[in-house]
Amino acid sequence: MTRSTCFLGFLAVLTSGAVTAALAQDSGGDPKAGQLAFNNNCRTCHVTKEGDNRLGPSLHNIVGSKAGTREGYANYSGAMKSSGVVWNEKTLDRFIENPESVVRNNNMKPYKGIPDPKIRQNIIAYLKSQSAGSGASSKAGES
Ligand code: HEC
Repeated sequence: MTRSTCFLGFLAVLTSGAVTAALAQDSGGDPKAGQLAFNNNCRTCHVTKEGDNRLGPSLHNIVGSKAGTREGYANYSGAMKSSGVVWNEKTLDRFIENPESVVRNNNMKPYKGIPDPKIRQNIIAYLKSQSAGSGASSKAGES
């Protein structure tokens, strides 16, 4: 409940009575359902804890970040590092559907893509909820 409570959430509580509305308002995705889908499809290789790189890089605060820039992650492909991609709802949606269509020759394998747009939206809403509190992330050392 408190994990992503923040100013926006507080405002949303005042205006609409739902913290999740603030987190999901752009994509229309459901971060709760997204967490489940994330656990099923991504968690073998990724967690969203800051600095916790596994087989794949930490996806903490990934929305709005430049691709290939997670600190301390040593296994980026040259393709990812030089892609110039910035992760937003659009690029993430395409990447989760088919990574090769966004970053050719990337190293995110084996991964077969998620064809269902609803599930992708939910995962992105979840990732956004793990990016909320940008205050927390700047405090934790990006700048
Ligand atoms: C089999 C392991 C694996 C699975 C499953 C997987 N990933 Fe990845 N992911 C990786 C690896 C490895 C990379 C680094 C790829 C590279 O450098 O080319 C990566 C990179 C990424 C990046 C780019 C990160 C950055 O720092 O730029 C995003 C975003 C991402 N994955 C999201 C997801 C999501 C969302 C899912 C589930 C829908 C998922 N991944 C499933 C292994 C995986």
